[in-house]
Formats: sequence, C-alpha cells, structure tokens
Amino acid sequence: MLGTWQEGPGPAHQRLSDRLRLLVLDGRLSLGSTLPSERDLATALSTSRTTVGAAYRTLVDHGYLATRARARATVRLPDDPPPEHRSSTSSATIDLSFAAPPAPVEILHAAFATALEQLPRHFERHGYDRYGTAELREAVADWYQRRALPTPPDHILITNGAQHALALLARTLLSPRDRVLIDHPTYPHAIRTFTEVRARPLAVAVAPSGWDTAQLHAAARTASLAYLIPDFHNPTGLCMPTSVRQALRLACPTVIDETMTDLALDGASPEPFALHMPTAISIGSVSKSIWGGLRIGWIRATPSLLERVQQTRLATDLGTPVVEQLATAVLLNEHQTKRPSALQQLRSQRDALRQALTEHLPDVHAPRPAGGVTLWATFPEPISSRLAAIAPDHGVTIAAGPRFGIGGAFERNIRLPYTLPPRQLSQAIRRLAQAEQALARGATGTHRPAPVA
Ligand SMILES: Cc1ncc(COP(=O)(O)O)c(C=O)c1O
Repeated sequence: MLGTWQEGPGPAHQRLSDRLRLLVLDGRLSLGSTLPSERDLATALSTSRTTVGAAYRTLVDHGYLATRARARATVRLPDDPPPEHRSSTSSATIDLSFAAPPAPVEILHAAFATALEQLPRHFERHGYDRYGTAELREAVADWYQRRALPTPPDHILITNGAQHALALLARTLLSPRDRVLIDHPTYPHAIRTFTEVRARPLAVAVAPSGWDTAQLHAAARTASLAYLIPDFHNPTGLCMPTSVRQALRLACPTVIDETMTDLALDGASPEPFALHMPTAISIGSVSKSIWGGLRIGWIRATPSLLERVQQTRLATDLGTPVVEQLATAVLLNEHQTKRPSALQQLRSQRDALRQALTEHLPDVHAPRPAGGVTLWATFPEPISSRLAAIAPDHGVTIAAGPRFGIGGAFERNIRLPYTLPPRQLSQAIRRLAQAEQALARGATGTHRPAPVA
C-alpha cells in the first residue's frame, strides 16, 4: 500500500509519514486499524527503525495515530481540520470526483408527469414488486431487443442502480476468500463491494492498448467470478473490441457492467457482451445515460439466478420505488438513453477538457476515449494521492488513481470526468495546475477524499 513512498524530496521519515497520512485520508487504512510495530514495518520496508519511529511520531502529533502504552498504534483522524482548510471545500469548489451528468430537466419532467398518470394502475396492489414493475421489466427487455439481444422480461430484475445490482450479485455468488477477477483499474465501488463480502480481488491489467485475452483466461481459471466493464470502461473510457469479446471464454461466472453502453461518442454503440457470451450476467443503469438521481438499474440473468438474487435482497430492501420505475420505463421506451444532444454535449466537453489539459498541464497524457464520461490522465510523477489531498485548497476535488486499483497502484493517474460545462472544466484544470505547482513547492494537503461515482 505504501507503493512509491521512497521516491520524492525530503527526508525519508517525512515521506513515510506523508504516505501513511494519505492512506488514512483516502480510507485505505481504515479508522481503528492497527499499524505494524516500528520494528516490523522497518523490516518490511528495509528501512531503519528510527525512520519509522519518526514517521509514527509525526502522525501522532498531527492526530492521525493514537497510541497507548504496550499496545500498537491505531489509525484515527484529527478532531478538527486545521483552520486554513475549514472553508476551502466551499460551494465554489469544482467537483471533478463525480463522473455523472446533470439531469435533462424537461425530459424528466415529462416522464414523471406520464408516470403519475399511470400510477393509479398500481394502487390496488401492495406496491412491492419483487422483480420490478412489469412496465419497466418490459422496457429494459426491449432495450436489449433493440440491441439485437432477445430478452424475455422474466430475465430482468430491477434494482436501485447498477451498484445495487453488483452488490446483490456479490452477496449471492461469492463466499469469503473467493477470488474475483477485476479489470485493473476498475470502478472503485466495485472493489469495495467485493472486499465487503471478504472476496479477494484478482486484478488483470487494462493497459492503454486494452484487455489481454490470455491473461483474462488464465485468471478466470482460479476465480469464482469475473467483473468486467467492456463498454467505455470506468475510468479509462476504453471499449473492448469485438474480436476480444468473441475470443473470451471465461471459466467462471462473468458479470458485465453495461452502465456506459449508450454513451458512444465516436461511432456505433458496442454490441451487447451477452451476444458473444450467452451465460454473461449483465448489469445496467440509466445513471449515466439519463440521470443518477433516478436510482434505477437492473440485472439481466436467468430466472433461476434472479430468484436467488431476490432472496438475497430480502435481507436489506424490499424493492424499488414505483414512480421512478414508471418514469424510467417511459424514458427507455422513448429511447432517451441515447439523446443526440446529450452525446454532442459530452463530445464538446471531452474536447474542452483535453484542450485545457494541453494548455495548463502539458506534461499530462490523457488519451481520447471513444465514449463514456471520463479521461484517465497520467502524470509524469507519482503525485496522485498528494494532489487529491491538496486540490480542494485550490478549489477543485479529484479522484486519485489508487482509488481505482489495489495495492497502491496508479499513483501517476487521476480520473477526470467531462460531465461539466466547458468553462468549468477549463477553470478546474487551471486550478489543478496551481495545485500541482504548490505540491512541487513542497506544500501538503490534508483533505479527505471526496465521494466518487
Ligand atoms: C462502471 C459503473 N458501474 C456502476 C456504477 C453505479 O451506477 P448507479 O448509479 O446506477 O448505481 C457506476 C457509476 O459511476 C459506474 O461508473
């Protein structure tokens, strides 16, 4: 987890305490967890005990470690942020940690008006639809049908978003210590979902050139589940080529996240993954293609698996609100997930963001994705977590690269969404460049990581 702590300016104990502090701030060292003894950490890092001791003392002085006699130090957070940081995450801060577009107002209003007209149909029943309303299950099935993938409505279970769908599948299909094949990098909440059920992520690199079929096949042989985002992958924006989809024959159950499918910016939408792998369990959502506030997603799978998922679900929730389901059915039936105006807006925002990077952070490399809502930017130095901790002081929040991976990887990367208007994106990148300059001058930040989506 300490990754490249030995690189960078300043004395070793300071670099070590800085890196440990960032691990606390971004939640990778959870509150209350115990740190290794000074001696053990010094041995593991091949450094001196004096260095580790000095680093621990700095963390205690700044409120990040609690110590008791004859007990190991435990992780805590300072009671109050230092005064200079108190007002710095004000409303004027530009939020680049959320990769989600604002609502299409008029379209949503109209869909909810229609949904309210339809609502009385449901009043005679109890309103707990275990698999979702018939209207929405049919609308989702038709969405697959339009993509040339025949899908009966009883192969659909409606959830409260794709994240909920993934959590339900993880709880249904995984046991503690199971291995789960994941893209690396991947969607951060997916990693969290798998570790929460005490499964072990098995990372397979998604390189700038894309997915490696041989590595996926090899990893799948020891995994109990695979979770892939082939359509405009979060965070890289890559789209898995048809040839790779055709060649993949994974030996374990495979969950395919199609949250970004309808956001093709330079060409046709990708074919449904399940066309090539009929056993694939697909999850989807309207959060990126329409609006996250609808909180509607789904699972496409066999009725027998959906029955198991539904049994799992009873332990935490009993269904999805009816009005939102009716409105989403209207939106899907009107094909509102692929609005030309919304896609055009994303294209111009993507271009504005890349232009701003060229102007203000010319050393940063950010390939142009063919779809989705994010760029995966690479800095020449491993500064990502430190940049995320200081960026709010300069009026911008970002999601640091290591949140998208395991083992402290991706310290050179940050994810940059292009879901804000061009002027704000340009302003945000100017501020990020200022934050980077402050870091280079030796400044440090103490901000906790912003929530991501
Ligand atoms: C790849 C991916 N899967 C799932 C989700 C969660 O989507 P939802 O808002 O539908 O829960 C997101 C949201 O950022 C995502 O990017």
